Amino acid sequence: MSKKIKTALVSLACGLMTATLVIASNGPATVDLKGPAGSKPPVAFNHKAHQDKNKCGDCHHGKTADGKQDPYKDGQAIAKCSTCHELGKPNDNIHKNCKGCHTEKKAGPQKCDECHVKK
Ligand code: HEC
Ligand code: HEC
Ligand code: HEC
Ligand code: HEC
Repeated sequence: MSKKIKTALVSLACGLMTATLVIASNGPATVDLKGPAGSKPPVAFNHKAHQDKNKCGDCHHGKTADGKQDPYKDGQAIAKCSTCHELGKPNDNIHKNCKGCHTEKKAGPQKCDECHVKK
């Protein structure tokens, strides 16, 4: 096999592997996010639309051995926010994350009932 073809095949294989990994670990396209008490209407979160316009690390991260925030690394395991954070309050870390970006980008809902849409 010529060197050129070999290189092409290797990069094709790598490309396919990366593609499969990304598809396998992207999570749900949409999620209904709700707090532990169920006191507010669930938030219809379009995960896919957010993924297309933002970086995984804008929302996901891990935890270091000494309990600090560990910045997102490509392909890392992703756990639910509630694994590490206490949710259920309007000033909890998920509200900080969502509203923080919406405020910064001057786009996306910031008022309670724009996210907690009554059905
Ligand atoms: C950007 C979207 C967004 C906005 C704006 C928002 N929330 Fe939330 N809220 C969420 C998400 C996501 C959850 C589910 C996770 C959690 O418990 O924090 C939630 C959960 C909650 C819960 C917990 C409900 C339960 O059953 O445990 C309360 C209470 C709450 N929000 C109050 C508020 C109030 C009050 C406001 C306005 C000051 C507000 N939220 C604005 C996204 C939003
Ligand atoms: C704008 C914020 C945001 C961005 C950007 C984002 N995600 Fe998420 N992702 C979330 C939220 C919120 C959840 C729901 C977490 C929960 O239920 O606690 C989630 C859930 C997931 C889950 C499922 C976790 C579980 O155990 O249920 C995976 C996997 C995931 N995301 C991967 C990714 C990858 C890979 C990227 C980048 C390509 C990405 N996400 C980009 C916010 C985001
Ligand atoms: C593996 C554990 C872990 C998971 C899962 C996790 N976090 Fe965190 N997060 C941390 C740690 C540790 C910190 C730093 C200490 C702290 O603020 O609680 C942090 C800090 C934050 C902060 C900064 C708080 C501040 O005031 O500066 C926000 C916002 C946040 N996380 C949002 C999220 C969201 C949203 C999710 C789910 C998409 C999530 N985290 C999932 C561990 C985690
Ligand atoms: C890193 C930035 C960023 C973060 C973090 C973020 N958003 Fe957004 N969101 C946006 C932007 C920008 C828009 C405006 C529409 C667009 O450009 O796609 C938006 C739009 C929305 C909309 C209205 C349009 C739609 O997709 O339904 C909802 C609802 C929403 N966000 C919910 C959330 C929730 C809930 C969270 C937290 C779990 C969150 N967002 C976190 C950037 C962000």
